[in-house]
Amino acid sequence: MKTINLPPYAPILMESTRAIGYSLESAISDIIDNSISAQATLITIKFFPIGQPYISILDNGNGMSSKELNIAMQYGSKNPNEKRDTNDLGRFGLGLKTASLSQCRTLTVISLKDGKLSGRRWNLDYVIKTGKWSLILIDKDEMGEMPLFNELIKCGKGTLVIWQNLDRLSAGDSNFVTTFGLKMDIVREHIALVFHRFLSGEQGLKKIDITINNNAIKAADPFLIKKSTQLMDEERILVHGQIITVKPYILPHISKLTEAEVKELGAKSL
Ligand SMILES: Nc1ncnc2c1ncn2[C@@H]1O[C@H](COP(=O)(O)OP(=O)(O)OP(=O)(O)O)[C@@H](O)[C@H]1O
Ligand SMILES: [Mg+2]
Repeated sequence: MKTINLPPYAPILMESTRAIGYSLESAISDIIDNSISAQATLITIKFFPIGQPYISILDNGNGMSSKELNIAMQYGSKNPNEKRDTNDLGRFGLGLKTASLSQCRTLTVISLKDGKLSGRRWNLDYVIKTGKWSLILIDKDEMGEMPLFNELIKCGKGTLVIWQNLDRLSAGDSNFVTTFGLKMDIVREHIALVFHRFLSGEQGLKKIDITINNNAIKAADPFLIKKSTQLMDEERILVHGQIITVKPYILPHISKLTEAEVKELGAKSL
């Protein structure tokens, strides 16, 4: 059979995968998924809206060697059909890149594993300039200038993801500082809900602390477990050889809820 090697043209593939439809909160959640898969117990998010705005996400997970970091930065780094560890929340081998570059033009990842630091960067403008998959290697001096770098060193291991050139967030926004803050409030609520089982340290899961600009995120309680009096038994269902555990909850009648509880369940008001 005659073949030619036809890899995708880097600038176009990168630009088109930016339009996958991530919101800021779902993009940050994809980065948190990776941290949880890497056994992190502390995830520190920092955002800064003034001058050269950035969002930095640090975890104290397993970290990556330089080889592992190269693979992590590659588009399509893992086979979606490959069997993964039960605690691995990833699937497509794309999230780190597509989620990040849906929000920014410069993605830097610095990782610390076995006492060794590695840093890599996708800069969309540089990829456009070279027309190639030109992954930038970051040296130690440059790493030192990155937000939360000192905190990564203090953790002794882990991974730091930095988003700069936040073009999608600042597009057409005359009052960026205020809207950035409001968007990060939505991120906080989203994380509190989506990761509530990890944040509350539910039985069987490793407890994870997540902070945004030094404020700890409190787990949401979407089933009102603290208030529910009707406890129900768990059910185990076998699906394609895997056991799925289903835990039902009965919510109290709306007339028994406070305004704050109704809000916690997702409604705007009573
Ligand atoms: N914070 C992290 N700590 C350690 N390893 C990481 C981290 N983030 C990413 N990785 C590694 O990089 C790989 C690629 O991550 P990426 O998010 O792009 O894809 P994925 O998690 O495998 O799948 P998905 O596209 O569903 O998110 C991961 O499988 C993991 O091995
Ligand atoms: Mg992922």
